[in-house]
Amino acid sequence: MLITYLAICTQFLLLVQSLEIASIVHPCPYADTVNITDGLRHKDGSYSYAGVVIPTHLMAEYNFKVIDGVEYRAPKHLRGCVCQLKPCISFCCPNDWIFNAATWNCTRPDLIRPVSHVEVTYRNRSVDQLKIQEHFVIRTELGCRNKFVDKKHESFWQWDLYENGTLWRDERLWNTDEYCFTPLEHKPSVWELTPLNCERFQRGYRVWIYAICSIIAILINIFILSLLGSVREARKSHYGQLIIYYLLSVIVGDSLLVYLALKNPMNLTHEACRNIGLLAYLFIMLSFCFLAYCSFDFLQKFQLKSIRNWLRKLSYFILIILIIGLRYLVAFAQDSKIPKHFKPGIGEDYCWFDVRLWGILIYYYCPIFLLLIFSIVCCIRAYFAIYQLPEDTHYILGTQLKVMKIHFYAFSGYLIGVSGVWLREIIVYIMARMREHFFIIDFWSGICILGLAIAGFILLLGRNMHVKTWWAINVESSQTDLSVINARVYKFDEKGDLKSPDSPYQPTVTSL
Ligand SMILES: *[C@@H]1O[C@H](CO)[C@@H](O)[C@H](O)[C@H]1NC(C)=O
Ligand SMILES: *[C@@H]1O[C@H](CO)[C@@H](O)[C@H](O)[C@H]1NC(C)=O
Ligand SMILES: *[C@@H]1O[C@H](CO)[C@@H](O)[C@H](O)[C@H]1NC(C)=O
Ligand SMILES: *[C@@H]1O[C@H](CO)[C@@H](O)[C@H](O)[C@H]1NC(C)=O
Repeated sequence: MLITYLAICTQFLLLVQSLEIASIVHPCPYADTVNITDGLRHKDGSYSYAGVVIPTHLMAEYNFKVIDGVEYRAPKHLRGCVCQLKPCISFCCPNDWIFNAATWNCTRPDLIRPVSHVEVTYRNRSVDQLKIQEHFVIRTELGCRNKFVDKKHESFWQWDLYENGTLWRDERLWNTDEYCFTPLEHKPSVWELTPLNCERFQRGYRVWIYAICSIIAILINIFILSLLGSVREARKSHYGQLIIYYLLSVIVGDSLLVYLALKNPMNLTHEACRNIGLLAYLFIMLSFCFLAYCSFDFLQKFQLKSIRNWLRKLSYFILIILIIGLRYLVAFAQDSKIPKHFKPGIGEDYCWFDVRLWGILIYYYCPIFLLLIFSIVCCIRAYFAIYQLPEDTHYILGTQLKVMKIHFYAFSGYLIGVSGVWLREIIVYIMARMREHFFIIDFWSGICILGLAIAGFILLLGRNMHVKTWWAINVESSQTDLSVINARVYKFDEKGDLKSPDSPYQPTVTSL
């Protein structure tokens, strides 16, 4: 199934690539264009805008706009590649209006302070005050909603504007469409022209709810894992083995996601950011594979088909290789020339999938959805296979049927929980997309992750018969053992009485 999915994905990428080649009608990147509807039209079809003459081959009609790297629908309008003819500079607000960080929109200031000059850094590192109107073409487009304003830190006020309109700030270059200038009050009644970038990092109670819930969920999962891992019977059974692999993948994947949620991508190197995101992707996809394998395993067992041990090991290996392949496919899609909308966006503005793009649906939610459908179909077929078993079946491939059934029902319950949570996640994403509302972290996801961990505790651990038996023998009976030892110490001569044949457990000193 994974192979077919990979094939479909590749086909899709090729299709998108060919579509893009067919639709090159735009003469230059959107970042270099200006809305020239207000320009002056000459007889030969060229336009004059802000003193620049734009020849016809550098103009086109656009029916979209790009804000912070994402395309949005927009009424048809004429744009010209003005920035390729003269450097552009962006302002957040038109005319003498200023960006108001409190109301998050443009307002007319009480006192108009015209700004006419800006400090420009030349390639030879010399700095000069330049008249904006003369050196640059001014663009006014409001840009992203989440503008980053941090007046308190001195680093916010430090930036270099190069003569080509590129901005150097926070140790990186920002293109002309990635910032906008506005006057801001630096010190009381000292106004400075300041560039604003888009905020890519969220703080606040939503992030904390998400992080705390996830951390508790990870701790619960670690507890389940360590108990399952320490009980020999559970560890050796195929079911226990798969659940252990599943929990391991979930723990690593969730930990990486929490780390990324709490870490500002600006403080990570590009390589670290990208690799942590891809690693989280690898482990989360792996966890769904193990769930699917577990359902498939139940189906095989109830159909009385045994998988040979070497085949089982080989299939784990192939599964892991396939998922690593998927991870490289995602990395490849990120580096390829497909339209930005179909890229995953890992390691670009965010270290995880960029929710503003469709990539998260294609590379993340779709495979997860398919794997869950596969798991559910296997479980349903396994359920009906139970009724096909011969009447007198008590053992299936060496395991008690009763135990198998309890494990199967518990696992199915857990699987329904996982499917519900992820279906909700996908629906929320699609609805938010339709409203063009992009959140970075949805704290309900954290609460759902915690709910799943609790469900895992009850269903995967509490209903695991191997663990239950172990618990009954080693924990619940240890009190009995203690009295046995005491009795031995105080009534040394009566040792025969203690090992009465109807005692349910053989007292063992080692269990202390
Ligand atoms: C382009 O400019 C015209 C004239 O100022 C304006 O009416 C129109 O809304 C602008 N279009 C976009 C998409 O910004
Ligand atoms: C900006 O927002 C404030 C408060 O939301 C509102 O009163 C004001 O009218 C808005 N200004 C513009 C120009 O939209
Ligand atoms: C603009 O100039 C800076 C410094 O000279 C350079 O690093 C950058 O690549 C240039 N950007 C463009 C788009 O030419
Ligand atoms: C740096 O270059 C600019 C423009 O290229 C020039 O006007 C200026 O004089 C140069 N400064 C120095 C110190 O060479």
